[in-house]
Amino acid sequence: MAVTLSYSFAFVFLLATCFLTASASASTKQIPPGGWMKIANVSDPEVQEIAKFAITEHNREIHEALVYDRVISGKTQVVAGINYKLLIRARTGHGRSTYQAIVWDQPWTKVRVLSQFIEVA
Ligand SMILES: *[C@@H]1O[C@H](CO)[C@@H](O)[C@H](O)[C@H]1NC(C)=O
Repeated sequence: MAVTLSYSFAFVFLLATCFLTASASASTKQIPPGGWMKIANVSDPEVQEIAKFAITEHNREIHEALVYDRVISGKTQVVAGINYKLLIRARTGHGRSTYQAIVWDQPWTKVRVLSQFIEVA
């Protein structure tokens, strides 16, 4: 009796494991590799940090003096780390403007690269 019970318990456990494995791989399959995913909350501290990095790095590279204002929207793409494509509002010497920045971030190597910074409005 005890043997039967532990067998059926093992079976249920096996079934649950299969189910969990299947649903986990199903949920990862929903994200197409290399696809851009909309950032739900651009107030996320990580997104804010990437945006401020983009402004600081741009200022350093071309000796401009943009002042970070806010992130309007953004997307991320998984590529041996994360690519952030952000629409950033910043103050210029004479008003405000919008910029599209692409920052590649590889947290485990602490490498962060500004790969694009263009004025879009
Ligand atoms: C967005 O993120 C910020 C900072 O983490 C948090 O304070 C805020 O509640 C979040 N908003 C939503 C709608 O989740």
